[in-house]
Amino acid sequence: MSRILVTGGTGYIGSHTVVELMASGYDVTIVDNLSNSNIEVLNGIEAITGKRPDFENVDCLDFMNFNAVFDRFKDIVGVIHFAASKAVGESVLKPLMYYNNNIGSLVNLLTIMQQHGVNNLVFSSSCTVYGQPDEEHLPVDETAPRKTATSPYGNTKQINEDIICDQAHAVPELKATILRYFNPIGAHPTALIGELPNGVPNNLLPFVTQTAAGIREKLRVFGDDYNTPDGSCIRDYIYVVDLAKAHVQAINRMLTVQDRDRVEVFNLGTGRGLSVLEIIRHFESATGVKLNYEIVGRREGDIEQVWAKADKANNVLGWKADTPIDDVLRSAWKWQQRLEH
Ligand code: NAD
Ligand code: WQD
Repeated sequence: MSRILVTGGTGYIGSHTVVELMASGYDVTIVDNLSNSNIEVLNGIEAITGKRPDFENVDCLDFMNFNAVFDRFKDIVGVIHFAASKAVGESVLKPLMYYNNNIGSLVNLLTIMQQHGVNNLVFSSSCTVYGQPDEEHLPVDETAPRKTATSPYGNTKQINEDIICDQAHAVPELKATILRYFNPIGAHPTALIGELPNGVPNNLLPFVTQTAAGIREKLRVFGDDYNTPDGSCIRDYIYVVDLAKAHVQAINRMLTVQDRDRVEVFNLGTGRGLSVLEIIRHFESATGVKLNYEIVGRREGDIEQVWAKADKANNVLGWKADTPIDDVLRSAWKWQQRLEH
């Protein structure tokens, strides 16, 4: 069977994707430096799939050791590149760290892939490249213009997309699939893997589950005076397991379809926007847990509303994010409870 190399494969989205790849019969080698994940994730993956993926504790910035992984695993047919630093606020404080890690890792990877004749790349991009789409572009599709990035993190995603296009232009054998994720949430239904938030969470869902668990006193809802039906911000929250499955479809397509554009871009979202207050209501009804929250002022730099037009991924990848939001929120709550034991 074919082997897929997954950088960042012990991370949140990476670990769920490794599970789905293995369930589909792929062999997997993970490259991760454990800078934002835990080695015990491998136990969770093994418990779910019955098999332990190959793991290499290697930093993508370490060219020699990264290259050596491709020497050892001669059957790698494609790479999914998750490894990156991803905290927007931290990127504002430490821009060079973000440019160094997120750009250096990709440049090393593309160099090594070219040297080893590995020609299929799936890349983790983000809806952050769209910024706040103009009204006529909502829901946002892949043809909407990218907006000037508002953080170094967002800028690294735009630069990464451009680097991939330039390299595909120069290397005719290279095929790349750029996946723009909307807001990934939830955990595997077994609660054996999930998101490991570092310190005080910035993202909504970890904050919701930690508040429900009593770790945080209350959730602060950042603004109810936006131009949206209930005044709170709208996002496209996508279940991480649905998201993971899209990567398998992307790999399958690269390995089987010849007559495709060499760089393809897909939005990965549900196609439905939910407000912060709707998420709170769904969480309470799905779990039966009352959430302590208060409305506070807007968070600086927040996007008012963005959700995906996901038709291209639905039609071309044959994939749809269709897990009901209540199931997704229950999975997040189950994972939170597991984290405490
Ligand atoms: P994560 O932090 O959980 O996973 C990233 C993994 O990469 C971690 O295990 C980390 O240890 C590893 N890593 C980082 N730098 C590395 C390096 N130089 N060498 C080797 N390993 C390295 O993050 P995630 O939420 O799973 O995100 C995965 C990808 O998806 C990232 O590229 C992120 O920017 C992108 N993305 C995430 C979201 C989101 O909301 N989670 C949204 C859009 C895009
Ligand atoms: C969601 C909504 C907040 C916390 C970030 C990155 C973006 C992308 C996705 C990687 C917003 C509200 C949040 C809280 C709240 N990541 N909120 N109280 O802002 O869509 O984007 O993740 O590429 O680049 O910036 O996600 O989870 O931070 O916020 O009211 O305590 O929840 O205002 O409306 P966001 P988020």
